[in-house]
Parts: sequence; structure tokens; C-alpha cells
Amino acid sequence: MVVYMHQDFIRISTGIRELDEALEGGIPKGSWVAITGEPGTGKSILCMHYAWAGLLGGDPVVYVTTEAEFRDVVRQARMFGMNFESYRIHDISSRETPSETPDIVVIDIFGLLKIARQMSTQPQVDTETARKKWYAALDIETLTAAIHEAYRILGVLRDEKSKSPFKHVRLVIDSLSAFWADKPAMARKYSYDLKIATHRENVTAYLVSQYAMTTKSTFGFGLEHIADGVFHLWMDDVESAREVRRYLIIKKMRMTNHKRTAFKLEVQPGRGVVLSGP
Ligand SMILES: Nc1ncnc2c1ncn2[C@@H]1O[C@H](COP(=O)(O)OP(=O)(O)OP(=O)(O)O)[C@@H](O)[C@H]1O
Ligand SMILES: [Mg+2]
Repeated sequence: MVVYMHQDFIRISTGIRELDEALEGGIPKGSWVAITGEPGTGKSILCMHYAWAGLLGGDPVVYVTTEAEFRDVVRQARMFGMNFESYRIHDISSRETPSETPDIVVIDIFGLLKIARQMSTQPQVDTETARKKWYAALDIETLTAAIHEAYRILGVLRDEKSKSPFKHVRLVIDSLSAFWADKPAMARKYSYDLKIATHRENVTAYLVSQYAMTTKSTFGFGLEHIADGVFHLWMDDVESAREVRRYLIIKKMRMTNHKRTAFKLEVQPGRGVVLSGP
């Protein structure tokens, strides 16, 4: 685990040196960090760097991806020099039990469906039931159960009843917006439910939330209040700028005298997210 000690806190690396430095060494262990921003600003790539730093440092990783299949995450990460396939990856939707403890457990929509099916007692009889199950897959309860199952597979729970990993785990959820897409008013409650279920001393989490362009408010604004930290990403209006100019700002981070001006964010082939700025 890549850690820095600062003011008695264990700091967790974001995988991006400039960002770590702007955070007095990294994210305080056990924090919930919301990653907010409009499409194409670099949220998913930021998640890849975070997971990759975990793999390099020996932290078990749980990677929830509702946006893309993990295969595509792997492909995209490889373009930036992060070869996830050099580690043991276990897909939760797989029928096989891993012979060795994996380094990273992946939960995509198929994994969530599998867990939803296991949780449901009803046999799948008609399309209406099938449709309901699809929604159940995008349920906070299903998500919580899937994360718990991932902890079990990673061998970080002392026993079946235990909810808290005894070892530090990195959790990525890209994105949470999918869970309240059909009921945005529930975002705050869902965020609370999830926080109660997963906020643990040994879990440092990235939670992606999409920015609704129409309302200019984060889709699921509840998350920003509940999170211990917020990284906000945006880009200049492309029509007037006539180019993609991206930025990242640390809006908040508990227990941290963080940088308060925006970084310029570039996505570079072979490197991924590159931050610069005063
Ligand atoms: N190989 C590459 N080289 C350079 N830039 C790339 C490369 N691959 C992707 N990008 C840039 O990264 C952007 C995608 O970033 P990312 O997927 O992290 O966005 P996001 O914030 O997660 O968006 P969304 O909300 O749609 O999921 C692309 O639109 C492109 O501009
Ligand atoms: Mg994305």
C-alpha cells in the first residue's frame, strides 16, 4: 500500500502525483470521495489511476462499473500504460471460484444481475419479472450485497457476518448515478443507505456521479454532502472555446489543507490524466 504519514493520518495515493501533493500526501484513509463532472471530463480515467495505484501497492480492489464492461476498462487503461491483466482479476459474474485470491474483483451489470438473482426468491417467469430484476440489479441493496461478496472473495472479512474489512480495500463505483437514474429524488437517501453500508475505516472509496448538464447540478446532489471529499471535473464551453479544455478542482477533503485552485486536466496517450497548473 502506498501511504504517506501526515498529521497522524494514513494517506492513500490517488495514483496521480500532483493530486497527492495537493492533498498533503493523499486521501485520508477511510474517506468517501465523490468524483463529479460532465461527460468526457476524465472521471472514469481518474478511477483507473486510483485502482491501479492500489494494485501496485498491494491493496485489494473492488471495481464496480455500470458504465462499461470491465473488458473495456482494461482496454482503455492499457492505452495509458496500466496493464490490469498483469494482476489477478476476478469477475463476480463468473461461475468459477477463483483458485487463488484475486487482486481485484470486478462488478459490472452482469455481476449485479447475478447477485440480484441470488437475492430474489421468485422464479423468473415472464418478461415483466425479468424487467423488474434488471431494475433490482441497479438497487443499492444489490450493490451492497455485491460489494460484500467481493470482500469475501478478496479474503478481507474475518467471518461471514463481518461487514468491515480487516485490511485496507480500495472501492471504485463508476457510476452511482445509474442507481438513481430512474428516481433522482432518491439520490440523497440512497447515498445515505450506501454510506451506512460501506463507509468503513478500512475502505477508501471513489464514487462517480454524473453532472446533469440541463440543471447544472450534480445528478444525485446528496452525494456531495455526504462525501468526505469531492473532486469536481468540468470543461470550458466547447462552442466558444472550440476545443476541449478540462479542469479538476478539489472542492473538499476532510482533515486536509488541500490546494484550492483548479488544475488543468489533460488526457495523454501513454499517461492518462496529467494535471498541471499554479
Ligand atoms: N487514448 C487516449 N488518448 C488521449 N485521450 C483519450 C484517450 N482515450 C480517451 N481519451 C479522452 O478521455 C475522454 C474520456 O474520459 P472518461 O471516460 O474518463 O470521461 P468520463 O468523465 O468518465 O465521461 P462519462 O461521464 O461519459 O463516463 C475521451 O472523451 C477522450 O477525450
Ligand atoms: Mg465514465
